[in-house]
Amino acid sequence: MLVLGIETSCDETGLALYDSEAGLRAHVLHSQVAVHAEYGGVVPELASRDHVRKTLPLLRRLLDEAGVGPEAVGGVAYTAGPGLIGALLVGASIGRSLAWAWGVPAVAVHHMEGHLLAPMLEPDPPAFPFVALLVSGGHTQLVRVDGVGRYRILGESLDDAAGEAFDKTAKLLGLGYPGGPAVAREAERGDPGRFRFPRPMTDRPGLDFSFSGLKTFALNTLQEVGADAGSRADISRAFQDAVVDTLAIKCRRALQETGLQRLVIAGGVGANAALRERLADIAAGAGGRVYYPRPLFCTDNGAMIAYAGCVRLAAGQREPLAIEARARWPMESLEAP
Ligand code: KG4
Ligand code: ZN
Repeated sequence: MLVLGIETSCDETGLALYDSEAGLRAHVLHSQVAVHAEYGGVVPELASRDHVRKTLPLLRRLLDEAGVGPEAVGGVAYTAGPGLIGALLVGASIGRSLAWAWGVPAVAVHHMEGHLLAPMLEPDPPAFPFVALLVSGGHTQLVRVDGVGRYRILGESLDDAAGEAFDKTAKLLGLGYPGGPAVAREAERGDPGRFRFPRPMTDRPGLDFSFSGLKTFALNTLQEVGADAGSRADISRAFQDAVVDTLAIKCRRALQETGLQRLVIAGGVGANAALRERLADIAAGAGGRVYYPRPLFCTDNGAMIAYAGCVRLAAGQREPLAIEARARWPMESLEAP
């Protein structure tokens, strides 16, 4: 079955075609960076409007690239939450309506399940069970994954998500939006020995995170030493080292506590090279290995939604005709298809 996936939960419009037999057929992505850059962050109403403008032209391009017509599509999957409600409603309305018009089934996909299953798009996918570290702009979660829809949250952020901490730190350092890649770039030239930031919540048991204090640390350091280029790079380095170290300590703990050896990293921050390198060591230390999607599929994309939708459609899951989206949607409430 050829499944169309539509992702519009935040600031990227992503569409893809995934074939249950042949795998990923085509994917297209439009980033809204230029729309939001002058505001220093995502403006929800502008995001919704841009999704409205871009989704159908992208669909035409996608079908062209795959060399197929709409009649080849056997099912439609769209992100129904969590995310910005207006943005979600664009993809949900278009996705549900196309499925109705084409006379094919539709399925609503959980955005974080999409991220979680993105490594399945790669040539050497992980087998279940595994521990997943989900690190995006809105979520930081450690999840025990026993199969599709069988998720147990082992720990999560009590305040800012890891990506949010990158974005806020970038903003106060004057590095602009989106912040994660900018901080990572600065950190590369930074001196690792100049500042040391704390590793929050690592000195007590448990798998929860707290990242909001790190941006305050960055701000205080900045005010102390001034915002010259060298200091910006050194602060970026200290910040990134603290986030990477903290995530690594908790991942090691999660592998120990579950006795599992496979570690999956997904979500936008999973594109961070320093984090990838460090977690590869952690998983190897546990006698296993790490799995991640290619960097392009770490951040929001349609391919992960098409894949997750394909698995659920193949198992017989169907959406009623109502168009629904949810700004909040706990992943543990999902069921196996
Ligand atoms: O998964 P994603 O595209 O969207 C959400 O579902 O939130 O994640 C976006 C987040 C942003 O906070 C962005 O700054 C961060 O991922 N990010 C990075 C990198 N690339 C994107 N953070 C650190 N290093 C990167 N290379
Ligand atoms: Zn995401």
